[in-house]
Order: sequence, then C-alpha cells, then structure tokens
Amino acid sequence: MNLVFLGPPGAGKGTIAKLLKEELNIAHISTGDLFRDNIKRETELGKRVKEILASGALVPDEVTIAMVDSRLKEDDAKGGYILDGFPRTVAQADALENMSSVDAVINFCLADEEILKRLSGRRVCKSTGRTYHIIYNPPKVEGIDDETGEALIQRDDDKEEAIKHRLEVYQTSTAPLIDYYTEKGLIIDLDCSGKPEDITRTLVEKLRK
Ligand code: AP5
Ligand code: MG
Repeated sequence: MNLVFLGPPGAGKGTIAKLLKEELNIAHISTGDLFRDNIKRETELGKRVKEILASGALVPDEVTIAMVDSRLKEDDAKGGYILDGFPRTVAQADALENMSSVDAVINFCLADEEILKRLSGRRVCKSTGRTYHIIYNPPKVEGIDDETGEALIQRDDDKEEAIKHRLEVYQTSTAPLIDYYTEKGLIIDLDCSGKPEDITRTLVEKLRK
C-alpha cells in the first residue's frame, strides 16, 4: 500500500508513521528525517538545506523531488510506503504522479492550539531521531534518551519564530493539496486528537474499508 501523510507540522505524522509501518510492514519515508540526516552527516545536500530547515521554510521543489525520486527506487519502498511530509506543494504532487501511484492520502486533522503544545514540548535524540514530548511522552529520565543515554535537544525549527513560519507555510503551500487530493478521491480525514495507538487503530480500520 502506498500512502501519503499530509498534515500540519506537529500533528503527529512521524509518530503515527512509526506505529503504522510496523502494522503494515511498509517503508516509512520522511523527507524531514532525510534532510536532517544529511545535515547531521554534513553532506552537500545537508549544507545546502541547513538554514532553510532552521527557518521553517520549504526546501526548493527540484531538490526535494530529486531526493524522493531516488528514495522511492530503493528496494524497501517497492513493497509499499508511507510518504511522511511529501508532497508539500502542488508541483511536488504533480511530480509524484509520474513517480508512483498513491492509494490514499491521510489528512491529519488537529486544532492549532494542540499543534503548538505538541511542537513546543517535543524533544529529540539527535543521533537516532527518536522523538519524545515533555508531557505526553516523556523519557524515563528527564532530558535523557531512554536507549542511548544522550541529552535530548529541541529541534531548531521548534523554536517559536520557526513554528509560526512553518504554520504559515503549511497554510499557503501545503493545505491546497487537501482539495487537490479530494478531487482525485484519495483523501481520508483522520482526527489526531487522541492517543497515538488509538489513532493508528482507527487509521488501520479506515484503510481496510
Ligand atoms: P518535517 O520534519 O516533515 O516537519 P513537519 O511537517 O513540520 O512535521 P513535524 O515532523 O514537525 O511533525 P509531525 O507531524 O511528524 O509530528 P510528530 O510525530 O513529531 O519537515 C521539516 C522541514 O524539512 C520543513 O520545515 C522543510 O524545511 C523541510 N521539508 C520536509 N519535507 C519537505 C518537502 N516535501 N518540501 C520542502 N521542504 C521539506 O509529533 C510532534 C510532537 O507531538 C512529538 O513530541 C510527539 O511525541 C507528540 N505527539 C505526537 N502524536 C501525539 C498524540 N497523539 N498525542 C500526544 N502527543 C503526540
Ligand atoms: Mg515528523
């Protein structure tokens, strides 16, 4: 099954993708994670996009499309995938049509005030990308990753100014994709206000139908 996760920053796309990936045994491809991995490894791509991610703006379409095109050609993506955070513009959605056929687009629905709480409380382990929340999903020891023992950090784009910018970018560039995919009959709305396990179960039921 080929799925697209569409939704505002902080709605829980990454969290649900990790659970659903186990359930369906398909690949989880997060463009944000791919960019952050390149930044960490200081690749040419990473150097090019570092400031863009920190500001909360979008990476140019041609760069993002090329990265996804090559990722979708890897073996694990052939048995199905979750595209988490791609497409984010109409140009990216048009490009995806030429790369692969999508079975459903999950529209993550969550109120703005909850989005702000989730983003401002998120903490991550830099080396593994494991995600926590200071209230909703705290580590066993405050500020420390459960498995590696490393200090948790706040993502650069989870600071107040960048959060504001990301939400604006979502409204202007990405939200139009809801209509785009509704017209194609692919949209499945998902209420993301509950517990991750419950949201995932609801999603699996919706996909079965
Ligand atoms: P990306 O990494 O995709 O960021 P995003 O879309 O802003 O989404 P997030 O990862 O912030 O949130 P999420 O929905 O995954 O939520 P999460 O599960 O972590 O992109 C980053 C940047 O990369 C972009 O700004 C852009 O610069 C660039 N980029 C990426 N894709 C691009 C593209 N296609 N084109 C151009 N540029 C691109 O959850 C958030 C928090 O809430 C966590 O703390 C979590 O523990 C908690 N939480 C999650 N679910 C629940 C729940 N049900 N209940 C309580 N807490 C919860
Ligand atoms: Mg994410």
